[in-house]
Amino acid sequence: MVHQLLQLLQCLEVSNFYSILSSFLVLVLCFFIFKVHGVWWSSSRTSKSHYNLPPSPPTFPVIGNLHQLGTLAHRSFDAISHKYGPLLLLKLGQSRTVLVSTVELATEIMKNQDIVFANRPFTTAAKAYLYGCIDIGFAPYGEYWTQVRRICVQEMLSNKRVQSFNYVRVEEIDTVVKKITSTCAAATVAGVENVINLSQIILTINNRIISRCALGPKYAEGLHESRFGELCREVMQLMGAFSFADYLPSVKWLDNFTGFNHKISRTSRDLNIFLDKVVDEHFLLHKSPDSDPNRKLDLIDILIFAQKDNPNIGRDNIKAIIMDMFVGGSETSATTMEWTMAELIKNPEVMKKAQDEIRRIVGKKAKIEESDIIQMDYLKCVVKEILRIHPAIPTLVPRLSSKDTKLQGYDIPANTVIYINAWTIHRNTKYWDNPEEFRPERFINNPLDFKGQEFHYIPFGSGRRGCPGIAFGTTSIEFTIANLLYWFDWDVPAGQNMEKLDMTEAIGLTVNKKLPIYAVPTLYSP
Ligand code: HEM
Repeated sequence: MVHQLLQLLQCLEVSNFYSILSSFLVLVLCFFIFKVHGVWWSSSRTSKSHYNLPPSPPTFPVIGNLHQLGTLAHRSFDAISHKYGPLLLLKLGQSRTVLVSTVELATEIMKNQDIVFANRPFTTAAKAYLYGCIDIGFAPYGEYWTQVRRICVQEMLSNKRVQSFNYVRVEEIDTVVKKITSTCAAATVAGVENVINLSQIILTINNRIISRCALGPKYAEGLHESRFGELCREVMQLMGAFSFADYLPSVKWLDNFTGFNHKISRTSRDLNIFLDKVVDEHFLLHKSPDSDPNRKLDLIDILIFAQKDNPNIGRDNIKAIIMDMFVGGSETSATTMEWTMAELIKNPEVMKKAQDEIRRIVGKKAKIEESDIIQMDYLKCVVKEILRIHPAIPTLVPRLSSKDTKLQGYDIPANTVIYINAWTIHRNTKYWDNPEEFRPERFINNPLDFKGQEFHYIPFGSGRRGCPGIAFGTTSIEFTIANLLYWFDWDVPAGQNMEKLDMTEAIGLTVNKKLPIYAVPTLYSP
C-alpha cells in the first residue's frame, strides 16, 4: 500500500553533499518557476477567504511545510503536533493536507464521518502500477470499490479462506525450519558460528505465502531471484519515492529529469507483461481438458470465475487487484515479524516467556498446528504490543475528503488529504502507561483487538477503508513467530550485546528496520 508521505521523505533524505546541493538547486528552480508564473499555493489564499481552516505551522512559499519534515514522517508529524496542536493544516508543496493526532479526531474521521473521508488520494506510482487505481486500496469509494473489496475478502481474506490456506503456511514454514536447521548442523560440523540474515528469511516467507495464494505455486518458485521478485522490489521502492507530479504538479515535468518517469514506465511495462502471462496461463488451464481437477484455486482463478457474474471485472482489474495483495500484504506482515524478532532478541525475558508458553502447548509434537496458536495468549499479546509500538504504517494510508466538512469547528474543504498519526495515538499517556516501553503484559486480560473499534489502538486503521487483510496478516505472523521461537533459541553474534540491538527505523513502503537482523539460531530439542 502506498504511503505517500513516507515516499516524499525518502526523497528528502539527504545523506551527502551532492544530494543536498541537488535538492537545493531543485528548490531554487521551483521557487523561480512559481514566482514567474505567480503561483503561490493559490488554493490556500482563496481558501483562506472562504474557510475557517485549521491552524498551520509557519510555511515557506512553494514548499509549504516540507522543510519541517525529517526522514521519518511519523516522528516529524509527532513533533509538529506536540508543538502546534492535534489538528493541523499542512501544505506539502501544493498538496493541502490535514494532520490529526488524537483519539477524538481519529474517531470523527474513521467512524462518525467515515463516508466523507472514504476516498484516497491518487499518486503517480499508484496510477501506473494499479492500472489507473482500479484496485481496492485506491479505488474511489463507491459501487466498484465495494464489489472488488467484497470479492477479495470473500475469496482470499475472510477467516474461512485464510484457514483454507493453512497448508501453504505449513509447507512454507516447514521449508524454512528445515533450511535453518541445516545451517545449524553445517555450522556445528565446521565449528563456526551460524549467523543468518533473519530479516531476509522473513521477507521471503511472506512473499512466497502471498504469491502462492494469489498467483499459484508455480510463481513462488525462485521468487526472490526471479524478474518478478525484482520487479516487486522496484515497485515497492518507487511507490516509496518522491514525485513532483504528486506534490508540485506545476513542475511535474521535473520528474523526467530525476529519472522517476522513466523508471515508472519501464517497471510498469515489465510488470504488465509478467501479469498478462500469468493471467493467460490461468485462462489456458481453465480451458484445458487435461488440467488437474483437484488443483487448489488461487486468487486469479477466483477472479476469472467472478468475471462471469461481474462484467465490471476485466483483465486490468484482475491485475490491479493482484498487485494490491502484494503491495498491501507482503511488506506490512514482514516488517511486523521483523520488529517482533528484534524486540524479542532485545528483551530475552519476554522471549523466554513466549517460548515457554509455545513449548508447553506444543509439547513433543513434530509440528505446530494452527489450532495450537489459539491457546497462545502471551504470543498474541506480543504481536499486539509490536503493532502498538511499531505499527507497520504509522500514519495509516491517507484518506481524502469527498466534500466540504468540519472537524472540531474548523472547515475541511473537499479533496483535502488526511493523515491520522497512529504512532502518536499509540503513545498517548492517557491510554498507555510508559508508552515507550515494550511490555506485552499490558494486553493481558485486555479486550482490545485489531478491528479498530477502540480508536486508541488502530494499527490496521478502521471503518470502511480499514485493512481487509487483518486475518491473513496476523495468522501468518503468529504462525511464523511461533515456529521460529519453538524450533530455535536465538542469540546475537559473538561480541554483540542483545540489549543494544540496533532499532533504527527506515522508510520504505512501511516503516521497517534500517539494518537487517543478523542472529544466531540454536536448534531446540524438545
Ligand atoms: C501486519 C499486517 C498489516 C498491517 C499493519 C496493515 C495495515 C493497513 C492499514 C493501516 C491500512 C489502511 C486502513 C485505513 O485507511 O483505515 C490498510 C489497508 C489495506 N490493507 Fe492492510 N495491513 C496489513 C496486512 C495486509 C494484508 C495481509 C493484506 C492483503 C493480503 C492487506 C491488504 C490491504 C488492502 C487491500 C488495504 C486497502 C483497503 C481499502 O482501501 O479499502 N493488508 N492496511
